[in-house]
Amino acid sequence: MTKDVLIRDLTTEDQNWLNDAKPAGISQVEFLRSVLREARDNSLQPSLFDFAIEPKTVYGNVPFKFIDLFAGVGGFRSGLTALGGKCVFTSEWDKFSNKTYQSWFGDEDVHTGDIRELDIRTEIPDHDVLCAGFPCQPFSLAGVSKKNSLGRSHGFEDETQGNLFFKIMDIVDKKRPPVLFLENVKNLRSHDKGNTWKVIQDSLIERDYSVFSRVIDARGWVPQHRERIFIVCFDKQIFGREDETNFQFPEPPEGEPLTLSSILETTAPDKKYMLSDKLWSYLQAYAEKHRKKGNGFGYSLFTGKDVARTLSARYHKDGSEILIKQKGWRNPRRLTPLEAKRLMGFVDKYAEMYGHEDGFPQVVSDTQAYRQFGNAVVPLVVEAIAREIVHTMSQAITTAENSCLLKGRVFASDKNGRTRQGNAQP
Ligand SMILES: C[S@@+](CC[C@H](N)C(=O)[O-])C[C@H]1O[C@@H](n2cnc3c(N)ncnc32)[C@H](O)[C@@H]1O
Repeated sequence: MTKDVLIRDLTTEDQNWLNDAKPAGISQVEFLRSVLREARDNSLQPSLFDFAIEPKTVYGNVPFKFIDLFAGVGGFRSGLTALGGKCVFTSEWDKFSNKTYQSWFGDEDVHTGDIRELDIRTEIPDHDVLCAGFPCQPFSLAGVSKKNSLGRSHGFEDETQGNLFFKIMDIVDKKRPPVLFLENVKNLRSHDKGNTWKVIQDSLIERDYSVFSRVIDARGWVPQHRERIFIVCFDKQIFGREDETNFQFPEPPEGEPLTLSSILETTAPDKKYMLSDKLWSYLQAYAEKHRKKGNGFGYSLFTGKDVARTLSARYHKDGSEILIKQKGWRNPRRLTPLEAKRLMGFVDKYAEMYGHEDGFPQVVSDTQAYRQFGNAVVPLVVEAIAREIVHTMSQAITTAENSCLLKGRVFASDKNGRTRQGNAQP
């Protein structure tokens, strides 16, 4: 019979819980040891700051804090929480996105006002990773052509939205996060003949960050072509020069890529998702008119064997970019909001982390739900990139001079004389 050794410092509640959970006949210590051993053997939780871990097996081994700016419905939050990150601040001004975000993540402290009015020093806590999918509109092709046709400026000249990037730079100057994780539309690099990208890059380099960027198609993770630029920056004063920073973007998972059949509902969706005769006739006539003119505007029809085009924020209008063929002579249908959620990779494992056993619930109208998903970043892609970031961070904190990376850094002035706060607690 095993001697029943007790872990004495546990509260009575935890003692009771442990006694209920462990099988009879083994001690608390033995039980905990077996659980930890099993986790280690299954690579679920590699030991803290383990040197030997490969990027693909890093899971929750670096307890980092992040902030979620332009949060939408939390594509960044989902992906980073899955890797052990703790969200310490969120900013999002759209009331419907906030309704979804607060219900999904149980977060009542979201900053719901204009980010430009934030008092950075008092309102934003210290953090390790700054995440921001800053608004696409001033930089996207659609946004640019619409604004051009209205005779308005775009990019950084756009007084209302373009300067949001500089608000991120203000936060960088005042909080000095070790890592920046940014996302934007694919054409950010070519926008305004490359000037926009040059300003962004120069702003980051001037602040002594190394800049890694890549356009990644989410198609490796979800059955949707969705190309977005991801920009990951590391504070050179912590991680060293770019060629010393051991960071690489992830490759898509191996294996047969997914098709739409993996996200389509298995029972016939409500009739309201089927196109009316009027709308279907209109879309066909519109496509025909443009076909004759030699351009490709129109609807796109898909079956379960296909991969969808990019879901856009305007999907709620007519659904024309992703229509699903129906059996027989029936008109095609739109995706349901549940299918749109799956197409964006908001899979149930993220919802379970926040206590939603049946996936993230829909708490807004269909129109708002489509708009929110069309604006979102795919959390599965975020998670894959973040796993590489965590690997780079875990390597940095194992070096002696950075052992404080995630705890708090001393105040110091950088070579430009700017005061560096880092994660230091004054
Ligand atoms: C491209 S979306 C980001 C979506 C997000 N990454 C996600 O996964 O859902 C940009 C978000 O920025 C928000 N936004 C735009 N301007 C803002 C401002 N001045 N202050 C706060 N939020 C703003 C918009 O409401 C929108 O939800």
